[in-house]
Amino acid sequence: MRILLLGSGGREHALAWKICQSQRVEKLYVAPGNAGTAHLQENDRRADAPSFAPCVNVNIKADDFKSLKQLMVKEQIDMVVVGPEDPLVKGIVDVLKRDPQLCDVKVVGPSSEGAQLEGSKEFAKHFMQRHDIPTAQYRAFTKETLAEGLAFLETLQPPYVLKADGLCAGKGVLILPTLEEAQKELKEMLSGMFGDASATVVIEEFLSGIECSVFVLTDGTHYKILPVAKDYKRIGEGDTGLNTGGMGSVSPVPFADADFMQKVEERIVKPTVEGLAAENIDYKGFIFLGLIRVDRDYACAKAGDPMVIEYNVRMGDPETETVMLRVKSDLVDLLEGVAEGNLDERKLEMDERSAVCVMLVSGGYPEAYEKGFPITGIDRVEGSVVFHAGTAEKDGSIVTNGGRVLAVSSYGKDKAEALSKSFAEAQKIQFEKKYFRSDIGRDL
Ligand code: AMP
Ligand code: GLY
Repeated sequence: MRILLLGSGGREHALAWKICQSQRVEKLYVAPGNAGTAHLQENDRRADAPSFAPCVNVNIKADDFKSLKQLMVKEQIDMVVVGPEDPLVKGIVDVLKRDPQLCDVKVVGPSSEGAQLEGSKEFAKHFMQRHDIPTAQYRAFTKETLAEGLAFLETLQPPYVLKADGLCAGKGVLILPTLEEAQKELKEMLSGMFGDASATVVIEEFLSGIECSVFVLTDGTHYKILPVAKDYKRIGEGDTGLNTGGMGSVSPVPFADADFMQKVEERIVKPTVEGLAAENIDYKGFIFLGLIRVDRDYACAKAGDPMVIEYNVRMGDPETETVMLRVKSDLVDLLEGVAEGNLDERKLEMDERSAVCVMLVSGGYPEAYEKGFPITGIDRVEGSVVFHAGTAEKDGSIVTNGGRVLAVSSYGKDKAEALSKSFAEAQKIQFEKKYFRSDIGRDL
């Protein structure tokens, strides 16, 4: 099979690493990819994965639909896997399905209507309400209903949660400690703080508890639940400081035990998949459930139960960098089941080991930081897999090219063993102003 994977982050390197281990792959194209996917063959070949399929980058952006089509026709692509949310929300799946030259290509990713689960917070909240899926109570406001929004805030207890309706590259959620700040931010959001994305703002009840990420593969009828992970969003030790794209992840998550996961499946996964089908929303792809195990009772859940914080319509980053380590089965076989609608006939086996990833980031991130520092020592890493997130090639060497640079991912018989491997290997990699959190997984 000739596969095209869209995206350029650590998530896509991890997906590429797993896809290329499948015997079914003739060649993988990554558009645009990064320095990691450009050298997948040399760097990531493992002793227990002897036939590692060839992988090449193609310099096309994931939302340049016209150039992607030309590539797909020319290279006779059999399957497309969409990594990030942006092209999904912009309707890439609908475009591919409508094109007479491409309509036979297998596609992993929801239609633009399905992608609204991430593309519009209001759509997602409405959907959950219609299908009795436990989530925070909410109301949505626009410029026209600002006065009602300000009054609604007065009826709530702090902290206040304000969410821009549309995609904001992970920056659209504000959690504010006082009523004054919440009212001020609501006014600013509705007057264009995030452009069109905050023309509608969802105000919701604050949920207290501990979060985890559950990933579901669905063909629209059947589903499989992938290994559960937890990510670490804040820049500082002890989960302090500014939010980032993710500083590390661990899988499995001890508190997501069998009892919790049964509730997740019955109360959240099933009604989500069935709800999409009942509403005739075409959805073949990943569903990422951002969940919280609440630590007190709410109207629709008791302390200890799962509630939904958000839906995403893709895999998580940096969760994919641990989840892919724990998927033992052939991922391509599962993805084919998704695209063909026979996922129930495919097998999902998980690796019983623990997996963790520690993200090496540029000093200064998530605020201003410099790029272009040479990276050394990746070739000395032995016990871990190094996924590239923000790297580039310059004059034949690898340099930093983003805030989040490399994800050092490791297996262990338990979390502690995997973490000590990642931290040890992280020391071998050098670039100016390298920073990482040394407390990943310590809260569990
Ligand atoms: P989101 O962009 O929806 O993932 O939100 C970003 C983060 O904000 C989440 O991962 C949570 O940590 C936090 N958050 C969002 N909604 C709530 C809520 N209703 N209660 C508490 N925390 C929330
Ligand atoms: N790790 C959270 C996300 O990918 O949105």
